[in-house]
Amino acid sequence: MPRADYDVLIIGAGLGGTSLALRLAESGQQVGLLAKKQVTESSSNWAQGGIAAALGDDDSTEQHAADTYTAGGTLCHPDTVERVTGQAPASIAWLQQRGIEFTRADQGEGLHLTTEGGHSARRVVHAADATGQAIMTTLLAQAQAHENIHWHEGLLAIDLITTARFGEEPNRCIGVYALDSQARRVRTLTARTVVLATGGASKIYLYTTNPDTSTGDGIAMAWRAGCRVANLEFVQFHPTCLYHPMAKSVLISEALRGEGGILVLPDGTRFMPEHDERAELAPRDIVARTIDGEMKRGGHDCVYLDISHKPADEILNHFPNIAQRCASFGIDITRERIPVVPAAHYTCGGIMTDLEARTDILGLYAVGESTCTGLHGANRLASNSLLECLVFAEAAHGRILADLNDLGPTEIEVPDWDESRVTDPDELVVVSHNWEEVRRFMWDYVGIVRTNKRLERARNRVELLQEEIAEFYGNFRVTSDLIELRNLALVAELTIKSALARHESRGLHFNRDYPDSFPDEQTADTVLSPAWY
Ligand code: SIN
Repeated sequence: MPRADYDVLIIGAGLGGTSLALRLAESGQQVGLLAKKQVTESSSNWAQGGIAAALGDDDSTEQHAADTYTAGGTLCHPDTVERVTGQAPASIAWLQQRGIEFTRADQGEGLHLTTEGGHSARRVVHAADATGQAIMTTLLAQAQAHENIHWHEGLLAIDLITTARFGEEPNRCIGVYALDSQARRVRTLTARTVVLATGGASKIYLYTTNPDTSTGDGIAMAWRAGCRVANLEFVQFHPTCLYHPMAKSVLISEALRGEGGILVLPDGTRFMPEHDERAELAPRDIVARTIDGEMKRGGHDCVYLDISHKPADEILNHFPNIAQRCASFGIDITRERIPVVPAAHYTCGGIMTDLEARTDILGLYAVGESTCTGLHGANRLASNSLLECLVFAEAAHGRILADLNDLGPTEIEVPDWDESRVTDPDELVVVSHNWEEVRRFMWDYVGIVRTNKRLERARNRVELLQEEIAEFYGNFRVTSDLIELRNLALVAELTIKSALARHESRGLHFNRDYPDSFPDEQTADTVLSPAWY
C-alpha cells in the first residue's frame, strides 16, 4: 500500500474537520482528510436546529454566555464560554462569506432567528430545518475541489502513531494506522501534525439520534495514546426522537418547541409547565428527565409533541424536512401529534484541549464533539455545538500554522501494520453480540437516571467485555466492526468510571444515590488520565 505523508492529517470530515481543512489548505498546507464512511454520515451533516449567535437587537454575547453557563450547570469554563459566544457573530459571517444561505426573516433584511431550550432570546441561525446539511454541502464541495486537500473516504483510523512507541521523547503524534475497509488492508499515514475531529460517542447507547459513525473513535484513540479525558458522564439525551417501529435515529428538532410545539401525555395532558416555569423550553436535561419520569410513572411507551395548532403553511415552511420524514411514517405533523422519546444525542465530555485545540500530546489537536473544551459544562446549550466546531477550528488553524515552524518531518521509520500473527476472524457473531450488549446495558444502567448499583453493574459488564474484545483484537485481523466495538467499549467504560466518580447530581448526570448538587464552588470537572490506570 502506498504511504501518505502530510503537513496536517485530519481525522473526521464533519464541520470541525472540514472547516479546519479548508483554512489550512488555503494557507498552503498539504492536508490529508479522513472520513470513515461517506462524508454525509456525520452529526454535523445531520444537524437540524442551527447555530447560536447573539445577532438580535434584544440580545448580546454576554447574554449568550450567561445562558451557556446556566444550561451547563455552572461547570463551564469562563474563558472558553466568553471566547466561543463572543466569536459567534463572526463565525456566522464566515459561513455566509463562503456562500451558505441561512433562512431570512419574513420582513426586513436580517436572518430569521429561532429559539430552543435554555435561550433567553431568539438567537438560533438556521437553514430551515436542515442547517447542517446546508452548511456541509457547501463546505464539502469546496474542500473536495481544493488541490491541497487529499481525501481518504472509507478509511477508518485504528490507532495513533506516537513517538513514544519508538522510545522517543517528548511524545509526539506523527500519524495514524487506518483500515481501508474495501481493500481490507491497513494503511500507514504519517503527518507533521494530526487533528482528531471524529465526533461523539452516542452509539454507546441503544437509542440515539446520531449517525452510525458516532462510535467515539477519537476519544478512544487519544486515551490509548496517553491523553486525558474529562466530563464523560455528561451525556445529553435529546428529549424528542421520533418513536416509530420503522424509524431509526430520526430527530425532531427542538426548534419545533421553539416555534410553539407542546409536549403532551397520551391522554392529551400537557405536563412540562408543572415541572419548570420555562415549560417545553427548559434546558434539555430537565425536559428529557421529565419525559423519562412521565413515561415510567404512567407506563407509557412515548409522549407526544404537538404543533398542529399552528397554521399548516407556517409549519411546512419552517420544518419541511421533518414534515416529510414524519409523512414517510404516516404522520401528518400539520394535523397530528408526533410520538417521541428521549435518545442519546451529544457527548459533552471528551478529549481535554486548551483554547487552541491542543491535547496532552505534542502535534495532536482535537476539535468538535470529541473534545472537552470547557464550553458545555454539565449540559450543552442547544445549538452551541456547530458553533464550537467553527471557533475551535479557527483557533486550531492559527496554532497549527505556528507549531508547524517547529514540528518538522520526523526521522522515525514508521513500520507497517503487523498482521503476521493474526488470522481471519472465525466467529463474527461475537462482535455483533458484544455491540448489542454494550449498547443495551449502557441504555439500561447508565441512562438518564442512574444509581450506584446500576453503575457498578455496568462497570462489571464492561470490564468483562473489554477482556473478550482484547482477546479477539489480539488474535484476529481487524474489521471495521471490531475497531468500532473496541472504541465503543472503551468510551463506555470511561463514561461509567466518570459517572461513578461524581458524587452529586448536576446537569445531565442524575444519580438517585446523590440527588443533590454540591455548592458550585466545590464542584469540578471529572478528569481521567491513562497514567492512573
Ligand atoms: C435540534 O435541532 O434539536 C438539535 C440542535 C442541537 O442539538 O443543538
